[in-house]
Amino acid sequence: MQGDVRGGGVVGTFFHAPRQGELEVLQDTLICVDEDGVISGVLPPSSHDHERVLNGLGDRVLRLPEGRYGMPGLVDLHVHAPQYPQLGLALDAPLEVWLQKYTFPLEAKYQELDFARQRYSVLVEDLLAGGTTTALYFATQDRAATELLADLCIAAGQRALIGKVAMDDPVACPPGYRDRSAEAAVADTRAVIDYIRGHKDNSEGRVLPVVTPRFVPSCTDAALAGLGQLAQECGCHVQTHCSESDWAHRYALERFGISDAAALDRFGLLGRRSVLAHANFLSDADMDLLVERGAAVAHCPLSNIYFANSVFPLRQALDKQLHVGLGTDISGGPSASMLQACQTSVQVSRMLEEGVDPALPAERRGRGDGRIDLVTAFHLATAGGGIALDLPIGVLAPGYRFDAVVIDTTARDGGIRLFGQTDPMAVFEKIVYGANRSNVAAVWVDGNCRVNRQ
Ligand code: GUN
Ligand code: FE
Repeated sequence: MQGDVRGGGVVGTFFHAPRQGELEVLQDTLICVDEDGVISGVLPPSSHDHERVLNGLGDRVLRLPEGRYGMPGLVDLHVHAPQYPQLGLALDAPLEVWLQKYTFPLEAKYQELDFARQRYSVLVEDLLAGGTTTALYFATQDRAATELLADLCIAAGQRALIGKVAMDDPVACPPGYRDRSAEAAVADTRAVIDYIRGHKDNSEGRVLPVVTPRFVPSCTDAALAGLGQLAQECGCHVQTHCSESDWAHRYALERFGISDAAALDRFGLLGRRSVLAHANFLSDADMDLLVERGAAVAHCPLSNIYFANSVFPLRQALDKQLHVGLGTDISGGPSASMLQACQTSVQVSRMLEEGVDPALPAERRGRGDGRIDLVTAFHLATAGGGIALDLPIGVLAPGYRFDAVVIDTTARDGGIRLFGQTDPMAVFEKIVYGANRSNVAAVWVDGNCRVNRQ
């Protein structure tokens, strides 16, 4: 099994979840990929074109061996690229302490570009090897290191959306790690946008720039207003943190007298391409506002256990048709795996529904509803991420980019043991709960092969 499939195809059994709660199994199906890496046909064996197209493509078709299954690449909607060295560490303090004590000092070290290059290279390689074909990255405050991350993603062929982190408020940000002024924060953000858009090796636009105010507490009003204006002017994606913890949520209410989400909207930062990380404490009205704007939430269930003081009400958000995808929040969450994010989103949704305090009677212990199923979690980690980003990814259908992963359920070092199980739903569950890096046999982004383990 090898190679790029642009101008060719892959035949085998695939899973995808274009809609919440619905797993589609594409059994023995031929997926055709055009010269640009876009899916041009999805032909089940019953299709009268299947044999003809298969024969026509000849050796440009790759056949998935027995025991291997294809699925859309995973979309991680929230990654702090510079925090990767801290993965699994420093999980003992509340958000506002964690930032000052551990995280800002680590991120500041990326001003040293050799330090940055070594760590960023490992991150991008690891995420691709784990099946993350698209990542929405917070880089650091530093412009040069952010541009370096873009260089590395472009070279590695990962789909990446990358923001220079704007953080200019001297009250909240340490002197060695902040923008000199609101004007500098906006000017450097603009420079990174121009750099990524004008990059000579990025003509296909696989890497995109993102306007990235860290969160309201890090930014002055002038920076937030300037970045809002810039986002509108450039038509860029926007990312930030919103109402993540009790402290962060209260902070906005005290500073503006309105919620975090409403304040972001006032600064022009809420639009169709905005992604708000966490957002645990959104009110009903905040959710309605996000829906109206077409903005999305990056739900980071594992990180929320450590830093958010609560479980994001995912079921409620989905019932309101709010766009939601999943994120690892490296390193707020101590795992880089998007399959782990799927698992945790299901687990915490159960806890929200049923409650956790055994001292309370069952009928008062939880919310009474709130659970999501594994297929919905997988939908959010793939198609939902694509919708949040307004990009044609996460679904195996004509017109979507061929960003895909092959899982080898037979890998000796892997985490899956099927014991002869062939029921597609059981195989799917075993994959999402068990697959590890050794199970990831191949990864394509835009039809280009980026991981290939025989
Ligand atoms: N809020 C502001 N910065 C951060 C960060 O780096 N991680 C998380 N989880 N929340 C934040
Ligand atoms: Fe975060």
